[in-house]
Amino acid sequence: MNVQPLSGAPANNAVYHALINPGDTILGMNLFHGGHLSHGSSVNRSGKLYKVFHYSVDPKTEQINYDEVERIARENNPRIIIAGYSSYPWVPDWARFKQIADSVGAYLLADISHIAGMIAADVIPSPVATRISLLSQPTRLPHWPPRRLYHVIQRIHLKEN
Ligand SMILES: Cc1ncc(COP(=O)(O)O)c(C=O)c1O
Repeated sequence: MNVQPLSGAPANNAVYHALINPGDTILGMNLFHGGHLSHGSSVNRSGKLYKVFHYSVDPKTEQINYDEVERIARENNPRIIIAGYSSYPWVPDWARFKQIADSVGAYLLADISHIAGMIAADVIPSPVATRISLLSQPTRLPHWPPRRLYHVIQRIHLKEN
């Protein structure tokens, strides 16, 4: 666990900076489908520093199509897959994300900025149980001040960059 007096976007930046190099590939949800700027938007440093692929929601179900996420991951070999959103009203399937990340040798970052309160209240499942690689969480969104962030890091095997 790493606690810093910062917030969610720098939390994600810290994860990228620690695990990958500029030019490496990340895969996150499209901003316009519920993702966050720091998940690789072209107007954010994450989109400028890294090679970004995005998954979207299925136009019919308006939910993530995990087979599609897997297809994009297999085709592009991201080093980090990001799950967790600013505007997506469904519960991410952490286990499926983990399975996809493992199948392409990617780290799985669970950005639970918006749903940590509901996870703490046991309303939705915690990604920690799924053994995600890393979790980013600013305290300000679910708990309000103080403005802090924390990372939970588990079973992470750092590769040489
Ligand atoms: C999913 C997600 N990640 C990161 C952030 C960034 O958090 P902050 O504004 O605390 O930097 C937000 C903020 O809304 C968010 O929804």
